[in-house]
Parts: sequence; C-alpha cells; structure tokens
Amino acid sequence: MRNLVLYTDRLLLRKMIQADVEVLMEIFSDSEAMKYYPSTKNEQQASEWVDWTLRNYDTYGTGLWIVEDKAKGDFLGQCGIVPQQLDDVIEMEIGYLFARRVWGNGYATEAALACKKYGFEQMGLRKLISFVDVNNTPSARVAERIGMTVEKTINKWEKDVLVYAVSL
Ligand SMILES: CC(C)(COP(=O)(O)OP(=O)(O)OC[C@H]1O[C@@H](n2cnc3c(N)ncnc32)[C@H](O)[C@@H]1OP(=O)(O)O)[C@@H](O)C(=O)NCCC(=O)NCCS
Repeated sequence: MRNLVLYTDRLLLRKMIQADVEVLMEIFSDSEAMKYYPSTKNEQQASEWVDWTLRNYDTYGTGLWIVEDKAKGDFLGQCGIVPQQLDDVIEMEIGYLFARRVWGNGYATEAALACKKYGFEQMGLRKLISFVDVNNTPSARVAERIGMTVEKTINKWEKDVLVYAVSL
C-alpha cells in the first residue's frame, strides 16, 4: 500500500496527507480528546498540523502517522515518531492521539509499541521519549505499558510535563 509505514496485528500506520484533515477533525474538534492541548483546532489549524507533519517527514524522515483498522480501513487516530526539542537537543518522541470512539481497546499501546520497535530497529535510534502532561493518566499508562519510565519533569508549553523515556 502506498505510504505504508508499518502494521501490527490489528493496525496499519501510514503517512499523513493533507486530505486527512477531514478525518483528523474528529480528534481536533473534540474538547475531551484535546483536554491536554491548548485548545481544540479548526480546519485551518488542523491543516497547519498536517503541514508541520509533512515538514517533519522532509526534514527528519519521520513524524506522526495515521492509524487505521487494518481489516476495515477505518480511521482510528495518529501515532508516530515526532522530532521534539528537549534541552536544546532534538529528541524523538512517540506521540499518540486517538479518536475518543476507540479509546479502551489497547490501540494506542499497540501502535506505540510498534513505533518503539520501528524506531530502534529500522531508524537506528538509541532513545525514545514521550511528553506527558502530569494530569494525563491515560497517556502515562500508554508510556508505562511500552516500557518507558519518568526521566524528569519539565516546564513545556507553559505547564508541567513528564518526560518519559526508554533507551536501547
Ligand atoms: C492517550 C490515549 C491515546 C490513551 O488511549 P487508551 O485507549 O486509554 O489507551 P490504549 O489504546 O492503550 O488502551 C488501553 C485500554 O484498553 C483496554 N483494552 C481493551 N482491549 C485491549 C486489548 N486487546 N489490548 C490491550 N488493551 C486493551 C486496556 O485494559 C486499557 O483500559 P484501561 O485504561 O481501562 O486499563 C487517549 O486517551 C487519547 O487519545 N487522548 C487524547 C490525546 C492525548 O492526550 N494524547 C497524549 C498526548 S501526550
């Protein structure tokens, strides 16, 4: 399949394209899913998010990917390896945002685990991090389930953020 990055038992991860704005709006317009982000996003802001992702593909060869149900092709969310600045260094972050309709199925953990394997085995990375808002328990649980531990707490995006990390 064109743009395929990886797949797991239940999921397929593929590169994002501008036309994905339409499905991404399910997440970006949901105030519950965006609770730990500055705000929900309108279509223009979602389009800028896709632009940022496409720039990451060009510059770093990686970024957030679209997660689909492998059997049905349904949109489930976004997960990927995202370049992020930490202490003046670019670190690679496993990021995950899923549609609320599919929470509680283990999809985020399955996708994040596959990204960890991909990062270490295909991209040759030695360390992966995740930024987790101190109040975002579901996100912390995903990080912990894929073997990450808290490295430190930082102030980023004007709030306290846990830096979860796992090294090879
Ligand atoms: C963070 C986020 C992806 C976590 O989603 P999630 O559905 O809780 O996480 P998972 O997909 O790993 O699912 C885990 C749950 O599925 C359950 N589950 C059901 N079937 C499962 C299966 N086959 N395999 C594994 N877990 C399964 C687990 O028991 C667990 O439930 P619990 O939390 O009640 O213990 C989600 O809350 C989200 O998208 N939030 C908005 C965006 C966001 O904040 N992202 C993080 C930014 S740092």
